[in-house]
Amino acid sequence: MKSLKLFSFLLTFTFLSATIASATDYVRVGTSDIDLIFKVNGDGRLCQSYFGTKLNHESDIEWLEDGQEAFAVYGQDDFFEPALKITHADGNVSLRMKYVSDETVVMDDNVSRTTIVLEDEVYPVELKLVYTAYKAENVITCSTVISHGEKKPVVLYDYASSMLRLEAGSYWLTEFAGNWADENKMSEQPLKFGKKIIDSNLGTRANMFCSPFFVLSLDDRMAENHGDVLIGAIAWSGNFRFTFEVDENNGLRMISGINPFSSEYHLEKGREFVTPDFIFTFSDEGAGKASRSLHDWARKYRIKDGMGDRMTLLNNWEATYFDFNDQKLKTLIPDAAKLGVDMFLLDDGWFGNSHPRNSDRQGLGDWQVNTAKLPDGLGGLVRTAEENGVVFGLWIEPEMVNPKSTLYEEHKDWVLRFPNRDEKYFRNQLVLDLTNPEVQDFVIGVIDTILEENPGVAYFKWDCNSPIGNMHSAYEKYQSHLWVDYVNGLYRVMSHVSEKYPDLPMMLCSGGGGRTDYGALQHFTEFWASDNTDPIERIFIQWGYSYVYPNKAVSAHVTNCNRTASIKFRTDVAMMGKLGFDIIVNDLSADELAFCQKAVSDYKRLKPAILDGDFYRLHSPYGNQHAAAQSVSKDRKSSVVFAYDVYPRFGERFTPVRLDGLDPDAMYRITEINLMPGKNPSVRASGAVLSGEFLMNEGIDLFSTERLRSVVLELEAVE
Ligand code: DGJ
Repeated sequence: MKSLKLFSFLLTFTFLSATIASATDYVRVGTSDIDLIFKVNGDGRLCQSYFGTKLNHESDIEWLEDGQEAFAVYGQDDFFEPALKITHADGNVSLRMKYVSDETVVMDDNVSRTTIVLEDEVYPVELKLVYTAYKAENVITCSTVISHGEKKPVVLYDYASSMLRLEAGSYWLTEFAGNWADENKMSEQPLKFGKKIIDSNLGTRANMFCSPFFVLSLDDRMAENHGDVLIGAIAWSGNFRFTFEVDENNGLRMISGINPFSSEYHLEKGREFVTPDFIFTFSDEGAGKASRSLHDWARKYRIKDGMGDRMTLLNNWEATYFDFNDQKLKTLIPDAAKLGVDMFLLDDGWFGNSHPRNSDRQGLGDWQVNTAKLPDGLGGLVRTAEENGVVFGLWIEPEMVNPKSTLYEEHKDWVLRFPNRDEKYFRNQLVLDLTNPEVQDFVIGVIDTILEENPGVAYFKWDCNSPIGNMHSAYEKYQSHLWVDYVNGLYRVMSHVSEKYPDLPMMLCSGGGGRTDYGALQHFTEFWASDNTDPIERIFIQWGYSYVYPNKAVSAHVTNCNRTASIKFRTDVAMMGKLGFDIIVNDLSADELAFCQKAVSDYKRLKPAILDGDFYRLHSPYGNQHAAAQSVSKDRKSSVVFAYDVYPRFGERFTPVRLDGLDPDAMYRITEINLMPGKNPSVRASGAVLSGEFLMNEGIDLFSTERLRSVVLELEAVE
């Protein structure tokens, strides 16, 4: 803000109003294409003056009106949902926050962090709004820090990470909701006067019913390549809440953060309450660009080893479930090598001795290898993997416990449960009390021990199959702190693992896609999208995730679910994401095996486009019989097009599908890949060399009336 020093001095010590907020004073949080601009009004209150496409002329900014209060507080003159609501030590419930200062720290030539400090005019309560702007990626994150100097604790009732105000003719909200095996189904609705809330009360497995992100389109329904679109996501692996409130003037207030439901927090003097990042981007060229911005940001700044490579794998879950032993695994591990993938991933069922984990009814918590099933231990399996030239990965679910386990018998006080009620189980299990540092240390110890005893374990799949029921901690002084403290305890454990083992890739899993947030993804390289591996369902599920996450993070496995779809169709769908297999390789015919082997080696070659490139949603499966998408490498020299005929109709007519993201002046050789041995290409363009201009303006025929047909095209720029 210009004239910052004098300005803040006057505001802090005199609360002078109208004359101070001159038209040239503003705080700008900007990226290459977007601006979020604040001014201080005549009452010394911070206002959001502008949010949207970048403003390149300074005089325009000066002309902007102050706008409405940037972070609404409860208690005196605001009549809508507050972003901050507290009760002071003396019982007073009011706040009136005034601007104190702002500071922008330039972290490097792409990232800058702006901290705006507000203080109540009567009570010593401070609120910091922390905005981090990522210039090239057009992403802004916002979190808040709340503290106070009152003699006794204050109680926080609402403590959002972010509040944004938008003004448009109409608002269209896309949410991503569903259930286990039905994650992330998209639906769009107009927002009218009043509130729409998207939230979770599940604690762990917090995204089982809805994802922690949304798309908001302004003035019209969401479109891929035009229109104003905001995509937002909260980086919190617990209860979250997005509140969208349209007021009497058709303005939209959007409040994002931890779900404060049943979570009032007693904050001691001098302690800071830090809220998670709300991550958002804005595009005036539709949702496609907004998604690509988030993908770039996530790879570069958020996901563990986001710019690194990813391993293909063979998992045994759907192939064996709990029914395996040393002998069986030693025949499956070489299959990974036969397929050509990088890793064998051993799933649930390898541990527990007094309560062997032969089903989901017992053993969880007893992380000693089951010596009856695996007499050579994990070490024996690691050796077999090494002998076959593949890496060994392991499933764990360290936050949970079966009541039938030694852990439960010895440490009932480590478990979230009511001392005076029957326990309620979800998948026969209970949640460990990660608010308790002793339990956090136990979980850390479980992971450290596995890795110390078996340094060959080179990958973890970290599962979490239960939400938090039995809402009681033997450790917490205030039970209402449990939801928040659990997640912070979990993050302490996850941070330990990601800091101690920075090169260890890890898959985030939660009974399918029940935990898919950018908070946990700081510590994980990828996530399990869904236990539903039917390729038709996966087209929809993966489509939904693509709005927020890069394909690199979306684990997609070829399985035997829905055998009416060919191995080709199943592989073509999984190849859009982070490819893996979960099949009995021996059951494949010679042609199927040859197909899979070739697909794996082509996938590895095409990773720069599929995993690290730009993703274009060409033809949505929603409301259509077909779907198509395209990945383009950053240098635009290589591209992969995926097309699926899902529910074709008799006698359908097709128009060519226009490709995207190519260099219009480059010539591309088109080759249909992922063909079954002996099969000819099914797309006429295969073999042609066409310009990017032609491919993006005229397009190519991709679809047919053949049910469950799929096509993968490789485009390669030629000189
Ligand atoms: C749920 C996961 O989503 C599955 O992939 C599998 O790991 C099972 N848990 C194992 O219990």
